[in-house]
Amino acid sequence: MRYDTPGLERWNSRVHDSSFGYVSTQGEPLVDLLDPQPGERVLDLGCGTGVLTAQIAFRGAEVLGIDGSGAMIEKALAQYPGITFIVGDAHDFTVARPYDAVFSNAALHWMNRPDAVIASVREALLPGGRFVAEMGGAGNCAELTTAMLTAWREYGLREPELPWYFPSPAEYARRLEAEGFVVRLLEYFDRPTPLEECPGGAGDWVRMFAPSALDGLAPDLVEPLLQRVNELAAPALRRESGWMADYVRLRFAAVRR
Ligand code: BEZ
Repeated sequence: MRYDTPGLERWNSRVHDSSFGYVSTQGEPLVDLLDPQPGERVLDLGCGTGVLTAQIAFRGAEVLGIDGSGAMIEKALAQYPGITFIVGDAHDFTVARPYDAVFSNAALHWMNRPDAVIASVREALLPGGRFVAEMGGAGNCAELTTAMLTAWREYGLREPELPWYFPSPAEYARRLEAEGFVVRLLEYFDRPTPLEECPGGAGDWVRMFAPSALDGLAPDLVEPLLQRVNELAAPALRRESGWMADYVRLRFAAVRR
């Protein structure tokens, strides 16, 4: 996979594992929805450090993990030496033998050419094969990104381009159908998520997930700018227990015709 911003990896693999254990914990119901069967061949697209790939393997499937980040794949290989992981571009990958299922958690929203991704997934599946995934949906992180863009405007800065794609359920279903899938299940729901490892709140979140927005800014501007992001986001996202991200999920199961 290649991401929008040159040189930007989604986030580093250390952070992915230690700070974002919720990616894995909250991914378990998606593995249940996939319901991998012993002996089935499953491809995990955007597998990160491989935690859910390992859960799929634990259920007896033969699984291949693909991710665009070499650092993630290196860590996945070190953690799960019995599983095959490779670096690859989700927009443009091919497989030698088609799979029973393609699975993807919290990765598709980093891919800016959805039709290319869906077409590659279709080609990687057997007829009747399933595509089971969860991603950020329309309105995902709206409070976070509004605070961010407002702060940029207040400081007279050009609004940064955000590297994510958060489609509505109708839009993504249309794309799936146009590429030859039957949509069997489509869910769209809020998932407020504690930003446990962002003690600095929304500003930390910007640093972690949209670092390219800070490229080229005067170093002494960054702190006050991110502080302003915090002030703007706090009424909606700061709780007594800590900061919450306003995540919205799009979850689907589709079958290749
Ligand atoms: C998400 O999982 O929805 C997400 C994570 C980081 C940045 C943007 C979205």
